[in-house]
Amino acid sequence: MDIEKNFQQIKRELTLTGRAGIEDFLAWLEFETDFKSAPASTIHHLNVLGGLAQHSLNTLRFARVINKEFGNRESEINITIAALLHDLCKVNYYIQGEAWDKEWKDKTNQWRKIAVWKIDDKLPLGHGEKSVILARKFIDLADSEMLAIRWHMVKWDVSDPGIKPMNEARDKYPLVKIIAMADQMAETYETLGEEAVDEPAQIQIQN
Ligand SMILES: [Fe+2]
Ligand SMILES: [Fe+2]
Repeated sequence: MDIEKNFQQIKRELTLTGRAGIEDFLAWLEFETDFKSAPASTIHHLNVLGGLAQHSLNTLRFARVINKEFGNRESEINITIAALLHDLCKVNYYIQGEAWDKEWKDKTNQWRKIAVWKIDDKLPLGHGEKSVILARKFIDLADSEMLAIRWHMVKWDVSDPGIKPMNEARDKYPLVKIIAMADQMAETYETLGEEAVDEPAQIQIQN
């Protein structure tokens, strides 16, 4: 994984959307958050440095594939914004820490400490809704983008009682389903194996 290359690609993709305020957003992302180097999770998919940016690009890649299969009914701009910003809530969210290695203890009968990712949410606002709120500090979002970002976890967002509005959003805007599917495809792709994780996202701009 090339962390710098991934971040530059994300900047390029978002700049190409031409969305008003995107320069300010990107400056914030680069200099006031850890988006470039953050992991995508603590123990699941892409729990490595740069994992969040890689996962965001993978989600964009799959969103484009799905959108193409559906006859490109969603605009390239909507797809790009929703895919790349869906997990914005994970900036300034993970910290590196230490934990006792239970597996090592079982194997060797000795304790040792290992580096782990822990959650230290600096702004506990939720998940998809937090991504929307953070993005809206800098840029306007279309209703479909807001709903796609808000509901990308589908029913995995079990803490949320709002199943009814989620289903309404999914019926109202195809983008909501596309981003949720792309997110799950990216996560599946990332957990398949080392080779899959290291393979760069092959994406192209469509004009
Ligand atoms: Fe997510
Ligand atoms: Fe995600």
